[in-house]
Amino acid sequence: MASYSRLTIPDLQAKKGREKIVALTAYDVLWARLLDEAGIDLILVGDSAAMLVLGYEDTLPITMEEMLVLARAVSRGARRALIVGDMPFLSYQVSLEEAIFNAGRFLKEGGCQAVKIEGGEEVCETIRAVTRAGIPVLAHVGLTPQRASSLGGFKVQGRDLDSARKLLADAKAVAEAGAFAVVLECVPQELAAHITSILPIPTIGIGAGPACDGQILVLPDLLGLFEGFRPRFVKRYAQFAKEGKNALKKYISEVKEGLFPAEEHSFKLSEEVKKALGI
Ligand code: KIV
Repeated sequence: MASYSRLTIPDLQAKKGREKIVALTAYDVLWARLLDEAGIDLILVGDSAAMLVLGYEDTLPITMEEMLVLARAVSRGARRALIVGDMPFLSYQVSLEEAIFNAGRFLKEGGCQAVKIEGGEEVCETIRAVTRAGIPVLAHVGLTPQRASSLGGFKVQGRDLDSARKLLADAKAVAEAGAFAVVLECVPQELAAHITSILPIPTIGIGAGPACDGQILVLPDLLGLFEGFRPRFVKRYAQFAKEGKNALKKYISEVKEGLFPAEEHSFKLSEEVKKALGI
């Protein structure tokens, strides 16, 4: 019988209350392989790729076709982690049929095992339809970047009583609609802890404090590869941009000074061929 070494949805759900779920974003095969080898549980092919890979201003312009190219690359690199494709703006809002079709493309063409959908009560019908079609959904409430403008920018959500109640209702609604887990983004830690304690599904926090069932970060933030700005909830575990620039400067100066390539990086002709060519 073929062995199934990839983490499944029940595997992840079984971690709730026992063991933290550790998640990160990835957008290409090299990093997907490294994340997988390091033991990451869940890889999100995030629509943050819009800015971090494709150079758009925000997440809104990225298309299904662009997301699928990245999802395929990630799925070729990761064998153990559960891979989640982030449904881009307008891929799930127009109709339930389009939402199911586009979500299905992440599984059928992108090699993902699940999709992520941003939103609370307003997307529950969509979550229900997509999960009923056999496509697992990771919900995403709190700060949902595709609606950043309506939410007043990249701000902590659920700080005042009304918005805390709304967030609580959103989290309960997406769980009832069938999401297998929910991302809580930029939520006060006490509220995230309360949501985590009452939901039957795992919560995965980003800027939502330590009580969530799991944590996710955007990979270039964690690596210090993106230096533009650092949200308060990001911890940089490395300084890749600084180290990378140093390596590039060294390469430039070694090429200019004739130090690279050296003998050990070069190939040789045999004496016989040299003689025949007269060189
Ligand atoms: O696209 C993304 O990177 C995300 C994370 C912020 C969770 O949605």
